[in-house]
Amino acid sequence: MKFFADTSNLDEIKELDSYGLLDGVTTNPSIIAKSGKEFIPLIKEICEIVTTGPVSAEVTATDYDTMRKEADILRSIADNIAVKVPLTQDGLKVCKELSDEGTMVNVTLCFSSGQALLAAKAGAAFISPFVGRLDDICFQGLDLVADILTIYDNYPQYDTEVLVASIRNPIHIIESAKMGAHVMTAPPNVIKQLYNHPLTDKGLTAFVADWEKTGQSIL
Ligand code: G3P
Repeated sequence: MKFFADTSNLDEIKELDSYGLLDGVTTNPSIIAKSGKEFIPLIKEICEIVTTGPVSAEVTATDYDTMRKEADILRSIADNIAVKVPLTQDGLKVCKELSDEGTMVNVTLCFSSGQALLAAKAGAAFISPFVGRLDDICFQGLDLVADILTIYDNYPQYDTEVLVASIRNPIHIIESAKMGAHVMTAPPNVIKQLYNHPLTDKGLTAFVADWEKTGQSIL
């Protein structure tokens, strides 16, 4: 499973990369607004850190003409830019054109398998089902991931990867991995929660204490 960081925080991105946990980055207009930084320069800085994995940068317009102009600016930032477009008719029109021109497109704000089918037909590189936001309104977000994977598995000609997004906790990551989702994107703090287990902590404490009793040192 590829791990993408759902953040624009450069320190968080660098830290995950240092642990070998960074295969890409996703951003969205809300993440950019929260950063308080200028969008294009910030994406350029991210692309200087993440030089090969996909970096998702989202258009902000909703009409085809303006989205297309924005997409052309975004994809010119770096070769590993994945232009993010919303799952709308205009968004998928842009997706089809960019995909045909060889540009990665991440189709976002996906909440149904029907939408995911449309994105695959539009040549999306990634489809982003928002599991957390479905859970937030008492729908089973992970069921959508399962349905999309089932549909895509029936059509090997589709190259679209399922990028599980809107992840709220480690269970979203683990259950998505059990289903074989290609990618997940999560806030770095959620990714780091995967390390945690009380028995690991307890066992390590016991190992250290027992070793100290030996009076020995490896160094
Ligand atoms: O960035 C895409 C997605 O992961 C954001 O989801 O629900 O945390 O805003 P959310």
